[in-house]
Amino acid sequence: MPDKNRAADFDGEVFLPSDDIIKSANIKEYSENYRRSIEDREGFWAEQAAQLEWYQPWDKVLDDSNKPFYKWFVGGKINIVHNAIDRHLKTWRRNKLAFIWEGEPGDVRTFSYHALNREVSQFANILRSMGVKKGDVVTIYMPQVPELVFAMLACAKIGAAHSVVYGGFSVEALAERIADAKSRVLVTADGGWRRGKVNDLKGIVDEAIRRSPTIESCIVTRRTGHEVYMESGRDFWLHDLKTLPIACSNGNCDTEQMDAEDPLFILYTSGTTGKPKGLVHTHGGYSVYTSTTHRYVFDIKDEDRWWCAADPGWITGHSYIVYGPLINGATIMLYEGAPNYPYPNRWWKMVEKYGITILYTSPTAIRGLMRFGDEWPRRYDTSSLRLLGSVGEPINPEAWRWYYEVVGQKRCPIMDTWWQTETGGFMITPLPVTPLKPGSATLPFFGNEVAVVDDKGHEVKPGEEGKLVIKSPWPGMARTIHRDPKRFVDTYWSQYKKQGWYTAGDSARRDKDGYYWIIGRIDDVLKVSGYRLGTAEIESALVSHPSVSEAAAIGLPHELKGNAIHTFVILKSGFSASPQLSEELRNHVSREVGAIAKPEDVTFVDSLPKTRSGKIMRRVLKAKALGEDVGDTSTLEE
Ligand code: PRX
Repeated sequence: MPDKNRAADFDGEVFLPSDDIIKSANIKEYSENYRRSIEDREGFWAEQAAQLEWYQPWDKVLDDSNKPFYKWFVGGKINIVHNAIDRHLKTWRRNKLAFIWEGEPGDVRTFSYHALNREVSQFANILRSMGVKKGDVVTIYMPQVPELVFAMLACAKIGAAHSVVYGGFSVEALAERIADAKSRVLVTADGGWRRGKVNDLKGIVDEAIRRSPTIESCIVTRRTGHEVYMESGRDFWLHDLKTLPIACSNGNCDTEQMDAEDPLFILYTSGTTGKPKGLVHTHGGYSVYTSTTHRYVFDIKDEDRWWCAADPGWITGHSYIVYGPLINGATIMLYEGAPNYPYPNRWWKMVEKYGITILYTSPTAIRGLMRFGDEWPRRYDTSSLRLLGSVGEPINPEAWRWYYEVVGQKRCPIMDTWWQTETGGFMITPLPVTPLKPGSATLPFFGNEVAVVDDKGHEVKPGEEGKLVIKSPWPGMARTIHRDPKRFVDTYWSQYKKQGWYTAGDSARRDKDGYYWIIGRIDDVLKVSGYRLGTAEIESALVSHPSVSEAAAIGLPHELKGNAIHTFVILKSGFSASPQLSEELRNHVSREVGAIAKPEDVTFVDSLPKTRSGKIMRRVLKAKALGEDVGDTSTLEE
């Protein structure tokens, strides 16, 4: 079936690609390419994998003998850093800008691929000298500075896995992730700049290390220059370590040859229990998946300047700031601070200054900037932009239109990419030539079979809501949950066990044109400003406060954040409700989990709706708060 290319062929509002976009696109046709990728999935992925350099080719593209623990490119030997850096050094790209970094105060640092290699090699030598080796997990807790990227790549280079903990998380979240990873080495900084203030990361690290007996050494990057506590024998300044002969060694360091299935990183994400899940991604499949999706969806070319305005500490940053773009030899933009600091012109000024050609961000950021008005982007020459992207939550059509009309000046198609920490890369996404519908992530990426089904696994009718499932394996899929394979099976693969499908945890609709519309999470996971949080994490932070006996957290729609956190608390006897206590509890959650988890409000209650087995029925709280019908309450205890 050829692609539909007239607006009249579609149901509802549609935006067709311009002739310029079609002319420049790497992939000019979707349907036929998609059909072929499904008919011969392994052939398709083998073709993509062949674009990378392997130390040793694979024997088998896909091993599905132990579902759902799929293996890809079995027998192949590779290292993602060899593909992201080493191989570029043999070509003209050695002199190309690998990345441009701008700090919030306005300082700028740039690195060619040659310079990136030196930085990463030095860092890798330092880690090696500390005894870090294949099989270890290094925890990285950093602001958005170049050293964060160097640290990630340095781990991968020597075969250690990294576990990056988002720099906005607080003590408990950091300590818990260090403990699960059993890291001996922690990489951090003396702080980062955010809205003109220093974010005191080292203070949080000191407290977290007190709760983490496994940490032996802590590498500290000097970023802000403000004074921090350095424990002798444990804490080392990176700039001091860099002067050691072991780090220098002419800036060289051998890249470790890894099995395709060896772990590259662990990334913790929120689930339905309080304990975060450490999803494991690998060197082989993840390299292939991130680079292929990035190349096709964002049509990446050597002239591009690619800006994924996410934090490297989340999956978006791992896949599309660091790995995918570097494998594709792109020039990457990285910015440290807030989008509207000191003024709401900050991003548009950077687009003009650096000639950014592709901007990839979240609906929350778009809504946040939209609220300041059209004049901010209009004041700058943003004509370099040719493509835009969105990720993290459904984009409301109003924000889509603003992004399209004001930022992209009706010239730049918007790639609304649906995916997850678990999927490693884009799963449902347009290509530049795909006709777009505002608010729809459009169609499955090559090789992926996707469906919207009911509880029994029957496909629901077009336009009806159902559960989003992925029916076929893909190379970028997480391989397991660190130290908890059973949870991996239970969480993602048990609901449609018979069919062997992956359950995403999202609800969605598929329209008459086959376009997917993501509705949102169906589990106890909240997307707040695009960040993923579990209601259980917020609740366990609340009950860790001496005054709280029980707590429940729910998400309610919020104009800017998508969802906002509202909490309900039963106090222990001897404590009484007050505005001061409410404020204290909100701050307590912020301290324990992180500022992004700070609840909008705390409602003091005498009881919470529970099932007879004692589970809190958040659905009932939410319906009540929204003034909706509370639905079936037959399982409600009281
Ligand atoms: O609910 C979906 C939402 O984000 C969830 C995954 O969150 P996380 O693992 O933090 O990864 C975010 C970045 C990939 C999904 O289950 N989500 C992500 N992208 C979209 C989205 N919802 C709607 N549209 C999207 N484009």
